[in-house]
Amino acid sequence: MTDLLPLPEGVQYKAEVGSTMDEIRALARAGAPEWTVVLADQQTHGRGRRGKVWQSQAGSGLYFSILLRPRVTLSSLGLLPLLVGASLAASIQSHLGLTTQLKWSNDLLSLDGRKLAGILLESEVIRNNVKFVVLGIGVNVHRQDFPEELRATALEEFGEVKRGSLFRAVFGRLRLDYARFLEQPEFALQLWKSFPNSLGKIVQILEPSGDTWSGIALDLDSSGALLVQTETEIKTVFAGEVSLLR
Ligand code: BTN
Repeated sequence: MTDLLPLPEGVQYKAEVGSTMDEIRALARAGAPEWTVVLADQQTHGRGRRGKVWQSQAGSGLYFSILLRPRVTLSSLGLLPLLVGASLAASIQSHLGLTTQLKWSNDLLSLDGRKLAGILLESEVIRNNVKFVVLGIGVNVHRQDFPEELRATALEEFGEVKRGSLFRAVFGRLRLDYARFLEQPEFALQLWKSFPNSLGKIVQILEPSGDTWSGIALDLDSSGALLVQTETEIKTVFAGEVSLLR
């Protein structure tokens, strides 16, 4: 019996999948309702952003994807990763008493800068209408052999944690925060800024094109894009990988 049970309604448990992203995408195409969730004990092909592998050993983390059918504009959709990251930070804070930091736009780090959780959003958009979004969340709960270059850690390093009760706390909080976001998309910005985050730090940006440059992270604009002060101008970053330099 897995320590992930009992599960909230709508959550399907799988002992092993390729990726929960693919499971939910298939269910979405077959007409499954919003908030259908697949939670796996283990993923054989867990994936992260930019084609990276998401290490998903049995019993080690929370690996789940949620089907959403958000009735928001495409521009508000850019706020969704911020909302989800901040909601995760909030539930970890209240459930475990652990303060974490948010790295724009999709990462949750320990205060010393090691990765605790990541968020992956894949959407199906037809003629500017969002048909559905697959929201994938991976949380490192127990230690795994993370390669050094990942700079990853796990929640258990900071205190006792049980996967099942953590999942229920994260899931319950996310449902509430998401409902508020639909009414008031700017709530995502308020919640994100209420936790330690990348603003005020020296950051290096790796553009999708492969170019890198650095500056000081100043603020977020209303769409959730990152405003970065370089030596000569303020640049707006819509997509790209941020590293914290100091
Ligand atoms: C990242 O930081 O690169 C995003 C990582 C997202 C990992 C989760 S684990 C559950 C879901 N299934 C996947 O294959 N990926 C996401």
